[in-house]
Amino acid sequence: MKEIEIDKKSVPNHVAVIMDGNGRWAKQKGKNRLFGHRNGVKAVRETIEAAAEIGIKHITLYAFSTENWDRPKDEINGLMELLVFTIDKEIKTLMENDISLHAIGDLKSLPSNCYRELMRAIDKTSSNKRMKLILALSYSSKWEIMNALRVLAKDIEGKKISSADIDEELFNSYLTTAPYPNPELLIRTSGEHRISNFLLWQIAYAELYFTEKLWPDFRKEDFYEAIADYQKRERRFGKTSEQLTKVLQ
Ligand code: IPE
Ligand code: IPE
Ligand code: MG
Repeated sequence: MKEIEIDKKSVPNHVAVIMDGNGRWAKQKGKNRLFGHRNGVKAVRETIEAAAEIGIKHITLYAFSTENWDRPKDEINGLMELLVFTIDKEIKTLMENDISLHAIGDLKSLPSNCYRELMRAIDKTSSNKRMKLILALSYSSKWEIMNALRVLAKDIEGKKISSADIDEELFNSYLTTAPYPNPELLIRTSGEHRISNFLLWQIAYAELYFTEKLWPDFRKEDFYEAIADYQKRERRFGKTSEQLTKVLQ
């Protein structure tokens, strides 16, 4: 295995992942799409472990999008069952590794057993401190922004806030991601170069990393490769390179 050098002192605080390619992985093997989803669980486990081991504090995994509700019924049901089963099975590991579970998205739209299991795991792991694992479930960025705007408009109507108060910080506080910092790095697997309605506001200045690997094949070293790649980049935030490297006199 080739050496991947990571500077543990400058790992991103928050990494977001679009876990894509389960269906194609299964198709390559002549199996149905659910077989792909089931085999994606190992990649989830490896990614969480890899992130915790190098001291990353937040990881958000895109597990199910608002648009994914338009998939065939059988696939949706299978995915929801897999979700309940996996959360139940992994609570123990989350406890042992001091990881707290969180969720963003239109959670009320999940089947009731799924919602209950999720809440139970969130509650049980809530005082864990090492890392926050945030699942994006029935999530889409446009849904989140519309939802934030609706609540914000109500608060103006109810005179809780005035329209003059609206700034980036206030708007941010209405998003489901309000408790978490913005991701510095977004990883997408499966060779697709798109965002698919994920964290549009929050990734305004994130570094994007795309890999051809299909999600079920994604392993710790793939995650570390993404981190190493991120660490080679110069994040300029609109400034010039010279401004960033200039030593103050
Ligand atoms: C990602 O894999 C998992 C979900 C979106 C739930 P896909 O199911 O999108 O797999 P592909 O992209 O069709 O290969
Ligand atoms: C994005 O993957 C959503 C998740 C990974 C949960 P999709 O497979 O749904 O995205 P598109 O349709 O290829 O853009
Ligand atoms: Mg896909």
